[in-house]
Amino acid sequence: MDDAQSERAEAEAEDPISRAIAVVARSAPEIRAGLTGRRTKTDDENASGETQLAADVWADELLESRLTDIEGVGQFASEEREEIVDAGDGDLSVAIDPLDGSSNLQSNNSMGTILGVYEGELPAKGRKLVASAYVLYGPITTMVVARDGSVTEYVVEGDGEEDAERRAVREDLALPDDPTVYGFGGRVPNWTDRFADYAGDVEEDLKLRYGGAMIGDVNQVVTYGGVFAYPELDSRPEGKLRLQFEGNPIAYIVESAGGASSNGEESLLDAEADEIHQRTPVYVGNADLIERLEAEF
Ligand code: F6P
Repeated sequence: MDDAQSERAEAEAEDPISRAIAVVARSAPEIRAGLTGRRTKTDDENASGETQLAADVWADELLESRLTDIEGVGQFASEEREEIVDAGDGDLSVAIDPLDGSSNLQSNNSMGTILGVYEGELPAKGRKLVASAYVLYGPITTMVVARDGSVTEYVVEGDGEEDAERRAVREDLALPDDPTVYGFGGRVPNWTDRFADYAGDVEEDLKLRYGGAMIGDVNQVVTYGGVFAYPELDSRPEGKLRLQFEGNPIAYIVESAGGASSNGEESLLDAEADEIHQRTPVYVGNADLIERLEAEF
């Protein structure tokens, strides 16, 4: 181990935020490798009423056991389980979406893992986040981490927990000034009129890129600039995505990278958190595109 590596290892040993990030990074190669053979549906639904895949349940259990082991973590919550898990004494709470976009597993498209580290108990406002991160299982495994106002992209390599290695490839990541892509979820006939009008304007300037897993779609926006939305729908004004597990952590990353987030009215990070599985419309991307949305709404 060189000096930089051992310094980092010491810091990780002391600081529960770094340890939570490190646990997710170290688990990523194992989660990726474990996806093969876990593409089957279970008979169960998660707290949001979605059918769980064997991979969802497995990744949830793996991360629960590792994250609740960290000293300083008092609560663990997952999109895949109804109740918040009491992890003992500790001022930090971790919220996990173990496999975001897992419906993409059947068609072998990209997916992710999302981590939010909050100060205090859950549910919590996004302003309580002290770090957030996502892993993208794409052609390669990458991890984007936001902490202390800066964002770093890593490549994660290795075959399992023991030899997993995280190598920084882009530091102080910022959304490009000249945005090029957009990706909007939900069926077009279900969009509200005001969102359809906004989408019409955006289509004039940007290119459609939508993959159906939030992490893949958001990572395109972080890389090329643009806007991702899972909007309010006529049939579902609260949208589809979950504030604690998806909206807040992604907003924290995009805002730390110089972009903006909104639920249609205010930054997602300012939205009141009433319930652990609460849904929210999600709009994230370049600041001028989010300002335009709020002005049109
Ligand atoms: O959390 C659920 C999720 O898979 C997100 O990753 C993604 O953005 C969205 O659902 C896709 O939904 P749809 O299939 O409606 O486009």
